[in-house]
Parts: sequence; structure tokens; C-alpha cells
Amino acid sequence: MPNLTSVTVRVPATTANLGPGFDCLGAALTRYNQFQFTALSPVDEAQPPILKIDVEGLEADRVQRDDRNLAYKAFCYFFRKRHQPIPAVHITLKLGVPLARGLGSSATAIIGGLVGANALAGSPLTPLQLLDFAIALEGHPDNVAPALLGGCQLSVRDQTTQAWTICPIHWSADIVPIVAIPDFELSTQAARSVLPQQCSYSDAIFNLSHVGLLIKGLEAGRENWIQTALQDRLHQPYRLALIPGFAEVFEAAMESGALGLVISGAGPTLLALSSAETAQHTAHQMQSAWRDAGVNAQVDLAHIDSKGAVVEAFE
Ligand code: HSE
Repeated sequence: MPNLTSVTVRVPATTANLGPGFDCLGAALTRYNQFQFTALSPVDEAQPPILKIDVEGLEADRVQRDDRNLAYKAFCYFFRKRHQPIPAVHITLKLGVPLARGLGSSATAIIGGLVGANALAGSPLTPLQLLDFAIALEGHPDNVAPALLGGCQLSVRDQTTQAWTICPIHWSADIVPIVAIPDFELSTQAARSVLPQQCSYSDAIFNLSHVGLLIKGLEAGRENWIQTALQDRLHQPYRLALIPGFAEVFEAAMESGALGLVISGAGPTLLALSSAETAQHTAHQMQSAWRDAGVNAQVDLAHIDSKGAVVEAFE
């Protein structure tokens, strides 16, 4: 007899780095992927796990429907780490976050798989325990932390204990994120491969001072602080060449009155921050600039998601 236990997890897109906060700062946005996990049958350890995956929504034909599916890998990771058999499962994905664009689609899959597995298992792990698994799977915390917890999150690792401290950063409602999503992809692996192995003291000092100012600027909604703070020397200078039209979109955003423009995550989506007054104009100018550079892009005013991963149904 099939086991009808089913859980649906909604996970937000994320924008990581926010300029100087490379690999440690990220925010959840109001765009979502949804993952439904339905346990198919009682576990039979003599059988390999049974898997069925259906996908609908944005770029659904691109998503793997076998055991290479990232949400399923995370689902399995949960049970393996807990030394429990992996339940046979039917996964249904509804996708609203574009793939390989710098909006944390991988993080949604990892968080969806872990939160779904935890819920089906009766919620034995806390969110922070799940986050440890997620960071191990993703390799860096800046997408998975806000995808799980919502809001803007700073992730800091203790050198002695290796434990993560996840610190919520208030994001003033006066600061509007604008995401410009081009119609080409850039893999995180490719965008990390261009980074140098080492950085100078001056670049490290530049970034740590800017990320401190950015956090204070976001919290207070201080536009002049954010204007200065959205600068980076650790990753963006090396990645610009991978994003055709970056210079043109940057110039258009700044001329339209944006506070700054950065690469969202590893790119190629670009993120501008703006006041509410100029946001619509900035979005329009960014879209035009990318179009003039030969790139189609979807440009949206976004909001910060405050909820993170939400278990929407449990039956
Ligand atoms: N911090 C990561 C990077 C985010 O910039 O490579 C991408 O997943």
C-alpha cells in the first residue's frame, strides 16, 4: 500500500555576495521554487530507492529527472547522514527561479530536498542543523542561509569550532532591489574558475570595510553609505568579462540614479539597489541598455522574502 505522507516546500530565490560580501552575505527574494515530496511506499532496504520526478514551470525541460536531480541528492544526503534508509519518493517541482543565472536555483534545490526530507522524517533536525548539511552540499553559505531562513543573512564560521553563526541583517524597506536577468547562463563553476587563489592585504581591507558599511547602510537605509559600500575587489573585477553588456548596464543604472549595481551571486544576473523613487526608471534603463548591447533581459523590481523555506502542506 502506498504511504500517502506528502510535504510541499516553497523556497525563495537568493542574491548572494551583494558586492563586497563575497561568499558570506546574501538575501532572499520573492521568487520561488516549490518541491513536493510524496513517500511512495514503506521502505524496503533490499530494494534500491524508487524515484519519480515531475517538473513544471520555468525551464522545466532542463531539469534532471533521475538520481542526478539536486533536490533528490539533498533528500538522500539527509537520510544517509542520519544512517536511515532512503524512502521511495515522488518529487514534483514547480519552478519559478531561472537556472544558472545567479539567483540561487541550486540552493533552492538543496534546501528543498533537505527540508522535505526532514519533514517526512518527522522534523528531527533544527533549521541550523539542516543548514550545516546545506552548506556542506553547496560549498558556501551565502545562498543557502537566506534560502532557508529568509531575509538578508551574514554567515560567519568560527575558526576553532567550525560552527556557523548566521546573523540576520535588517534590510530597510526604503532600499529596493532590482534584478536584471539575461537570457544567457553562467555556471557558478565557470565564474569561480576565473578567481585568483590569493588576494592582497589592500583588497581584503577594501572588502571588509565595504561589507561593514553595506550592512550598516542596509539597516539604516542610508543611501550614501550604500553607494560607497556596493564596491568589491575580491570577485567582480575577475567576472565582468564573463557578462556581455555589464559596463553598459552598469552605466545606465548609475545614470538613472541607482545607488549601485553588482553581480547577483556568480552572475550573470545583475542586481541594482535603488530608492523607491528611482527604481522603476532604473529598471527601464537597465533593460534598454542590455537590449542595446544585444542581450534580452527580464528586469524586475524585487522584494526581500522574509520567510525563507516554508513547509506549505503536510498530509
Ligand atoms: N558566493 C558564490 C559565488 C555565490 O559568488 O561564487 C554563487 O553561488
